Amino acid sequence: MPLPDAPAALAATAGHPSTDDGPGGGPVRSVIVGTGGIAGAHAGAVLAQGGATRLVAVVDLDRPKAEEFARAWDVPVVATDLADVLGRHQVDVVHVCTPPGTHAGLATQALAAGAHVLLEKPPALSLAEVDQVLHAQDAARGTGPGGRDPQVAVVFQHRFGAGAGRLRSLLDAGVLGRCLVARCDTQWFRPPGYFDVPWRGRWEVEGGGPTMGHGIHQFDLLLAVLGPWEEVAAMAARQDRPTDTEDVSMAVLRTEGGALVSVVNSVVSPRESSELRFDTEHATVELRHLYGYTEDSWTFTPAPGHEHLLARWQDPAATWPESGHTAQVARLVAAVRDGGDLPVPLAEARDTLELVAATYASAFTGRRVRRGDIGPGHPFYDRMDGTGAPWPPVKAPGAARSGQGVGA
Ligand SMILES: NC(=O)c1ccc[n+]([C@@H]2O[C@H](COP(=O)([O-])OP(=O)(O)OC[C@H]3O[C@@H](n4cnc5c(N)ncnc54)[C@H](O)[C@@H]3O)[C@@H](O)[C@H]2O)c1
Repeated sequence: MPLPDAPAALAATAGHPSTDDGPGGGPVRSVIVGTGGIAGAHAGAVLAQGGATRLVAVVDLDRPKAEEFARAWDVPVVATDLADVLGRHQVDVVHVCTPPGTHAGLATQALAAGAHVLLEKPPALSLAEVDQVLHAQDAARGTGPGGRDPQVAVVFQHRFGAGAGRLRSLLDAGVLGRCLVARCDTQWFRPPGYFDVPWRGRWEVEGGGPTMGHGIHQFDLLLAVLGPWEEVAAMAARQDRPTDTEDVSMAVLRTEGGALVSVVNSVVSPRESSELRFDTEHATVELRHLYGYTEDSWTFTPAPGHEHLLARWQDPAATWPESGHTAQVARLVAAVRDGGDLPVPLAEARDTLELVAATYASAFTGRRVRRGDIGPGHPFYDRMDGTGAPWPPVKAPGAARSGQGVGA
């Protein structure tokens, strides 16, 4: 899927005047499962669509927490089990905002009820789980209201912001020449206390460390701009934090288009930043932000003799929203109403998750990994830690089973 034309999507939904013309004649009916740290971004994004969608229910294992969330966002129905909501109410989209270990099961449950799913990142714990959900999506074809095909989309909100689509268009049109070198650095800081939440820092419920849970945003955007990766060599370490997973990984990859890219994923970096840099034949394009970006976060430096490209980059007609959940949900709601592909399709998010698996496989085996190497029977297909991390676990076994916790 090309990067989105976000302004058009926003125009299609913003200020939507009434509840008359959503699926079945009303607004898109949304449910949030998991009312923890990230759920507010989803509720805010739903509210920002100007009536084109509305929250009909919230679900959390922790009922008082769900009730408080429902009061804050004026949601009429509260439940502790998604099955209760799906059994009693018409639902168009289930927003899955629970810990990663629960994603595949909840997505499968929603698909079986004919509902679309918006899965928080990472979409699942492993490539095997993603393939199970893709299988469930195939099996659910035609079972939605009016015979629609329920789809699973994944939250990769940074694809939906200022500049990213423009950069991809300029690269696709050959205006910037080939991308030769790129850098993708996610250097964040999570203090030791962040990992007190029982599900964090564990392979079996979080699926990985900053490669899986933090840097994934940035290298998903990198791949959305540059196209598929081909080969990766990586290292990972647990430098400091009380986790079973890595707290730092570094990878070097080659894309199918021939660019060489370095990728850093860290949660131990006191001065936090998220940075992407693309050196093409005719310009350097850079993005510097932390958790979301605007037009001002981009820098464009033309190569000598290509100064005229600055005007192409600064095209005044292209006004983009800030990257974030609101921009992605706008696209999603438009697709639900018009019957298009919901962004970002799970099949496409799988490519990004495959790079995660390949990063771990390379880091833990000392070998380069090519796209397509990790399939059924490969040790890194069923678990992101595959053959095992080269450091001993520190988390108490079994303590994360409830999957409950606090803010992101
Ligand atoms: N896109 C982003 O920028 C972003 C940012 C932060 C977190 N996330 C992702 O969002 C997800 C949730 O993270 P969080 O920080 O909000 O977690 P959290 O621990 O704050 O909240 C999770 C909530 O889910 C509930 N829950 C767990 N299992 C459940 C189940 N089976 N049914 C119903 N409720 C259940 C818990 O009680 C808890 O209230 C994770 O996948 C995380 O990676 C995404």
